[in-house]
Amino acid sequence: YRIVVLLSGSGTTLQSIIDTGLPATISAVISNKPGVMGLNRAKEANIPTHVLDHTTYSSREAFDQDLQQQIDEYKPDLVVLAGFMRILSDDFVNHYYGRLINIHPSLLPKYKGMHTHQRVMDDGEPLHGSSVHFVNTELDGGPVVLQARLPVLPNDSPESLELRIKTKEHLIYPTAISWLAEGRIELKGNEVYMDGKKM
Ligand code: GRF
Repeated sequence: YRIVVLLSGSGTTLQSIIDTGLPATISAVISNKPGVMGLNRAKEANIPTHVLDHTTYSSREAFDQDLQQQIDEYKPDLVVLAGFMRILSDDFVNHYYGRLINIHPSLLPKYKGMHTHQRVMDDGEPLHGSSVHFVNTELDGGPVVLQARLPVLPNDSPESLELRIKTKEHLIYPTAISWLAEGRIELKGNEVYMDGKKM
């Protein structure tokens, strides 16, 4: 079972996937930003890395086409977004539908988009969390595979909340990936099945 990981930053999510020791091979890590920590983490783990700098492309479609070509050289079973801060075009998403996943720091379908921790606090929400989901053409809108939830504490700041969320993310993302690698999770249309049962 081969995985390609896409990232743009610090790569703590990638690190959790590496450290968990999944029943899968991380074939490559691709970043749209040169020099990020996530690339160093991959190199440390002897994983091939590639940089596709989106600022050198004239359009989103041109970037996504090159990205798709680079990914497909590895013939991955699963493409894992791990802090990849680019919106992907519909053609790209449709090409990988059912084998492209993301982790988004909110209890989807609530709080799609950016700055989720701040928005959750501004709204006085008692609960927050993170969601592993299949990617579809609606931003942060694809079918959810697994969620972690945690209470918002009286003394929380967006930063403290983010740290606690990340600790949970580093458990649920590797777990969801291992379920996929073991063939326990399946996407039929836009419904997620686990061990043959609709979730
Ligand atoms: C994670 O919090 C994830 O939910 C979001 O981006 C963050 C990535 O963090 N999609 P890192 O770059 O892996 O440290």
